[in-house]
Order: sequence, then structure tokens, then C-alpha cells
Amino acid sequence: MLTELEPHPEASDPEPFAGPDHPIRKITRRMAFGEEWKPEHAERMATLFDELAPEWSERRTDEVKRAPIDDAIERGGLPLTGDWLELGSGTGAGARVLAPVVGSLVCTDLSAGMLAHAPDVAPRVRSDASKLPFTDNAFDAVMMINMILFPSEVDRVLRPDGALLWINTLGDQTPIHLPAADVLEAMPGQWQGTSADAGTGFWLAARRV
Ligand SMILES: C[S@@+](CC[C@H](N)C(=O)[O-])C[C@H]1O[C@@H](n2cnc3c(N)ncnc32)[C@H](O)[C@@H]1O
Repeated sequence: MLTELEPHPEASDPEPFAGPDHPIRKITRRMAFGEEWKPEHAERMATLFDELAPEWSERRTDEVKRAPIDDAIERGGLPLTGDWLELGSGTGAGARVLAPVVGSLVCTDLSAGMLAHAPDVAPRVRSDASKLPFTDNAFDAVMMINMILFPSEVDRVLRPDGALLWINTLGDQTPIHLPAADVLEAMPGQWQGTSADAGTGFWLAARRV
């Protein structure tokens, strides 16, 4: 079940950027709904983001990225005092906002280049989110900002009452995009969530039913 809150008062529509035919959009959907993530996918993605890393880090946490994170922290009913994991943490746009307000945070990304440009606000681990180097039930919350969803790994590392936070900062114009309802559907078992538009994007905070 998905509960949609009123949009944040300053929410707005994103400019056209990446439509449904964007190649990364197609990969995102296929991985969420069970296709195998192969070594060549990981290699291509790491190379792409290694190259983008210097320019990506210059943007740091712009207002576009920050608005949905702030709103989710405020209205998402999230376990802020718990242990958090960020997947696809990039150059730290999310970590800069999250690290000061959560109990603990570990940042992970496939791209060594992205991690090298990230701030030293939380431990950074290079790893593929399709096969995480963490034990079962290790985290109270998992955050993904514009990141591919690997449902079974997110499910595995989350504690029974754990929460996932999914953010697309350009809404349906985000290249790595899934609507909130599709994230709930893709997760193993039954999940329920709360979602709202904020900035030019949206957030979804979800837990198992
Ligand atoms: C669109 S960027 C978003 C980065 C950051 N979350 C942000 O909002 O600035 C996607 C990030 O996910 C990472 N990524 C893609 N596939 C991944 C995978 N299988 N495992 C871990 N990270 C991955 C990329 O290296 C990149 O840093």
C-alpha cells in the first residue's frame, strides 16, 4: 500500500531530461524486476561513473538533491537513530545531509572514482549493490538516491523492521527512475510506503507489512 502525502510546498516539476526510452531507465527496470546483473553491466557502470566523478563532485549537494532528502527526514517516519547504509552514494550528496542526523552511516558505490571524490563523513566501501559485503539484517535503513534497485540484497541486509528510502531527484525525468509503487512491487514480500514530491523529485519511505 502506498500513502501519498501532500507535496512539499516548494515542490515543482523537473525539466524534461530522461524519458522512458533512456537506456539506463530500461536497465533500472530490468534489474528491479529480476534480470541478472552481469559483470559487464558492473564494468560499464563503473567506467561511466569513474569518468563522471570529477564533474559530479563539483555539484556537491545542490538544492535539487537536498530537497527530497530533507523532506523525507522530516516527514518520512524514518529510523534516524539507527544504522544506515547508502547504496550508490556517489560523491556524497546524500551522505553530507544524512551523516549528521543518523546514528551511523556506511556509504557504498561501485565506482572508485565517485568514492574518491566523496567527503570523509562516513566510511566508504567500494562494492556492487547486487552482492553486498554485509551480513543479513545488518541495517535499520537503506538509502538510494538515483540508484539502481537490487531488491533481494536490500531485503537481505535490512532488519525485520528496517526501512528503505528511495529518492529520484528529477522525478520521472531521473535516468535511474522507478515510480514509488513499482519499488514496493519489486521488493520481495509485502511492503508499504509513504511518498511525497519535494524539490523537483520525490521520496519513498517503505517498510515490510
Ligand atoms: C546517478 S549516480 C547517483 C550518485 C549519488 N547517489 C547522487 O545522487 O549524487 C548513480 C551511482 O550509483 C553507482 N552505481 C551504479 N550501479 C551500482 C551498483 N551495481 N553497485 C553500487 N553502485 C552502483 C554509480 O557508480 C553512481 O555513483
